[in-house]
Amino acid sequence: MLMRHSTLAVRIWTPAKVNLFLEVLGRRPDGYHELATLMMAVSLYDTLELTEETSQATALRCNHPSLSTGPDNLIWRAVELMRRESGRSDGVSIRLWKRIPMAAGLAGGSSDAAATLAGLNRLWRLGWDRDKLIRLGAELGSDVSFFFAAPAAWCTGRGEQVEPLRLSRALDLVLITPPVGLSTAEVFRGVTVPNPPRSGAALRQAAVEGDVSELGRQLHNRLQPAAEQLCPAVASLLARLAGLGPAGQLMTGSGSTVFALCRTPGEALRLARALNSARDELGGARVFVVRSCH
Ligand code: C5P
Repeated sequence: MLMRHSTLAVRIWTPAKVNLFLEVLGRRPDGYHELATLMMAVSLYDTLELTEETSQATALRCNHPSLSTGPDNLIWRAVELMRRESGRSDGVSIRLWKRIPMAAGLAGGSSDAAATLAGLNRLWRLGWDRDKLIRLGAELGSDVSFFFAAPAAWCTGRGEQVEPLRLSRALDLVLITPPVGLSTAEVFRGVTVPNPPRSGAALRQAAVEGDVSELGRQLHNRLQPAAEQLCPAVASLLARLAGLGPAGQLMTGSGSTVFALCRTPGEALRLARALNSARDELGGARVFVVRSCH
């Protein structure tokens, strides 16, 4: 998360994430699933500008016409949570430039919520530490806490228990986002809990050591079969990526975005060019060349 601050306004560039590993360990009594996942922030950003208001109102504006800017938006809920926790009733006006695709497994909404918590912490000079923001993030959604542990973390529980990881090198990825998004809840409903679960130890070690070939072999997402059932484009785009020979390919989160893990920035560009030169066959999917944040 990158932040610029003046007395009355904060501007934040907040990233998307991908999951290099996601295993489902079990169903919980509260309806959630126990997870083990490696999340990594990548260079695709939404921008939020938070400005103090003299009124006590919250106002949210967004460049994306199909996104709700009302109280159901996670940004709005983050403002309400900060007000409740701090006891402040200040107004705030928020502008959001949405670039991270929605319902795409990239946690764009969670990233915006994390940026709102971090931005108000700065704007209202609350001085709350990272642990407090991680705890507040967990109240808004399972992926929100990660953004306070980025650029990479091993996440457990619902996903909200975050252990920061230091990756020894930047990773180059090509993302493809189908035009149809997926509902996280619906994908989780279709998942088969494995017995025994797969260990993420080898992937985690490869990530920390920067061994891209091994990482490519160890990529794993337990939600992928359920997502492929709901959105056939996931399987066909993964097959297309595999045909281009990257180190590995996988769906991120609950989909519908898939990605190729590339060995070099040049390989990522080559893959993106190959995909773009056959645009008609992508069925309206969008292609992004990104790098892990550091
Ligand atoms: O926490 P969040 O609001 O992002 O989760 C959205 C939905 O995804 C949940 O309501 C739940 O159905 C499902 N989910 C789950 N297990 C998790 C995270 C999310 O079942 N660890």
